[in-house]
Formats: sequence, structure tokens, C-alpha cells
Amino acid sequence: MHTLTIIASNHTYPIYIGRGLLANQALLNQYIVGNQVFVVTNETVAKLYLPLFLTNFDGKQCDYIVLPDGEAYKNIANWSKIIDALMSKKHRRSTTIIALGGGVIGDLTGFAAACYQRGVNFLQIPTTLLAQVDSSIGGKTAVNHPDAKNMIGAFYPPQAVIIDIDALKTLPKRELAAGYAEIIKHALIADPEFFAWLEKNQQQLLNLEADSLEKAILRSCEIKAAIVGRDEFEQGERAFLNFGHTFAHALEALTGYNTLLHGEAVAIGMVMACRLSVELGYISPTMTERVLALLSALDLPVSLPVVCSIEQIVNEMQHDKKATDAGLRFIVLEQLGKAKIVENISTQQVRTILKT
Ligand SMILES: NC(=O)c1ccc[n+]([C@@H]2O[C@H](COP(=O)([O-])OP(=O)(O)OC[C@H]3O[C@@H](n4cnc5c(N)ncnc54)[C@H](O)[C@@H]3O)[C@@H](O)[C@H]2O)c1
Repeated sequence: MHTLTIIASNHTYPIYIGRGLLANQALLNQYIVGNQVFVVTNETVAKLYLPLFLTNFDGKQCDYIVLPDGEAYKNIANWSKIIDALMSKKHRRSTTIIALGGGVIGDLTGFAAACYQRGVNFLQIPTTLLAQVDSSIGGKTAVNHPDAKNMIGAFYPPQAVIIDIDALKTLPKRELAAGYAEIIKHALIADPEFFAWLEKNQQQLLNLEADSLEKAILRSCEIKAAIVGRDEFEQGERAFLNFGHTFAHALEALTGYNTLLHGEAVAIGMVMACRLSVELGYISPTMTERVLALLSALDLPVSLPVVCSIEQIVNEMQHDKKATDAGLRFIVLEQLGKAKIVENISTQQVRTILKT
């Protein structure tokens, strides 16, 4: 088992990465402070892992809620259901709320933990690759507003993140690929050698070869942990983690959040962000080709969905919550392993990129 540490403003917390951790009673119980536990999960994950997971807390008051599966349920209505269940089961301030699932469950549960009695103990047990390398790390929690994603939320770091790589054995291939998109993003913005390693080990990763998968998750978590440790509240470099995301958010919104997975939209967005980096004179077209080849090899989409017109994408980007008054803001690559924020990019420049 590997252990990383994240320094947050009001506490430092560990990320454990290993195998069989969903049943590691001793490890899990280290983070249960009182005698109450409340597990939040969804129908899919519950069928696979909930009965086993609950046995870790024998002897404690252990309640759970099983929500429907999907991004559409990351909303205030389900946040309320969690709070109502905590109230009706009389959970006290010393309770520990556990998110068992992918990023949807992690974000929603984290926001409930941040709000219940002004904040209670919270554990992240991410079960998708995307949640393991990205959403469970760094303390961002949120629910969606009907008009926009992640509009209501809080920075609320957990007491620990416990990553069981074995949980990925049941993950659908498409979801796995979506997680690889975020791993590739971490390599692109922070570590050229890791990017070259991913290129070299793409086949092993596709085959879920244990050692390669573990190395990819570990290095990816190290990169994200280091960035959020230096800039928890996104005053500066944490924004680099949004590489590809301005394009991705627009594509997700235009396709109704039900066509592209988040990681798939990020994959397309990263290709566009690389092209913008070329356009601005930072990287060579060969670098874009390498990114495109790696994403494709890992079964990720690399071109715009046909249903989205260039004008629709540009319009949608202007509504992105990270757009500034002065113009569009993007994260680009200054070179492989080094990201940069560029502002005031004109809609005309964006149109050129999208047409390429
Ligand atoms: N907080 C952050 O910093 C942050 C960062 C990136 C993404 N996000 C959020 O994360 C969410 C996306 O997360 P996601 O990609 O994990 O999606 P998800 O939570 O919807 O999970 C994807 C699918 O995998 C299923 N699943 C989960 N674990 C499984 C397992 N072990 N075996 C089989 N199936 C399993 C889920 O039920 C779901 O159907 C979005 O809401 C996004 O906004 C948050």
C-alpha cells in the first residue's frame, strides 16, 4: 500500500492506494471517530460492494443510503435526502459520512458532509478511475444547478481518501478510459517523463495490468496532491488542472450531459487545448499528434461530436463560470509538462482552432 499526504488549510490528510482496501477493517476504522457511520452510494456500486463494505463497521451504528445512478442525480434533491436520512437516524456531530462510489457520489456526499451540522467527518472511497485520480482529491464538493454543473458547493477536504485498485475490475471499459483522460492530463501539465511512460505502457494499461495501473494511479495522485497542496483554493496553479476543461464543459453542456462522459469530453478538450497551444506558438504540432495518438490508443474520442456546431461551442464557452469579463480564458501547454493560463483569447481564435 502507498500513502501520500495532502496539506489542506485546516488539516493534513492521507491518500491510501492499494488492493483489498474496501475490506481493510483496521484502516477504515482508524478514521471513524465516534460510533456512527453513514455510507452514501448508488444502486450500481451498492450491488457490487455495499454488503461487503458494511461488514467493516460491525458493532457501530451503521446506516446507508442508496441513490439512483447518474450525473442527473447530483442535485439538491438528493443532497436533501442524505441530510433527511442523517436526521432521521439521529446522526450526531461525531458521525463519519463515507462516499462509496464514483465522482458523482463523492461530490454530492462531500457537500452533504460539509453542511450537516456545519461539517462532520468525511471519507472518500472512490471506486471509478476518474474519482481515484481526480475527483476524490483536493476537497472540491458540489451539486449541480439545473442550469449549470457544480454551481453549488464547498471546499471540504475529507479526513482520508482510500483507493482500492481492485474496485476497478468491475468498472466498464468506457469509464476506465474516461479516467485515463485525467491521468494523461496530469502528465501533460506536470511530468514529461510520466507522459512518455504512459505512451510506452498504453497496452498494459488497456489490459488493466496490475503494476502499470498502480503506477499510473500513484503518479497521477502525486501530481494532483502536490498541486492542490500548494494552491487549495484555486488562486493560481490549481487552475492548470482545468487543462482541456473549457472546451470539455461546453461539449458536455451541448450534449446534455448524457452523451459524452466527463473524461471523454476532457479528451477532446485536451486535443483542442493542444491546438490552441500550437496556435499561440508554444508547442509543436508533433506534440498535439502525440497527445492525439495516446488518447486514441486508450479508446478516447479526439474530435468534436457532430451534433455540436462551432458557433454553439463558442457561445457555450462564453457562459463558462471560468470565463472572465475580458474574454475567454484557457489553460494551454507552454511545453510538455508545463501549463500556463492565457486570457483574452478571442472568439475568432477559438473558431480557428475548432475548425482545424
Ligand atoms: N470534485 C472534483 O474535483 C471533481 C473533479 C473531476 C470530476 N468531478 C465530478 O465527478 C463526476 C464524474 O465522476 P465519475 O466519472 O466517477 O462518474 P460516476 O460517479 O457517474 O461513475 C461512473 C459510473 O461508474 C459506476 N461505477 C462506479 N464505481 C464502479 C465500480 N467499481 N464498478 C462498476 N461500476 C462503477 C457508477 O455507478 C456510474 O455508473 C462528475 O460529476 C464531475 O463533475 C469532480
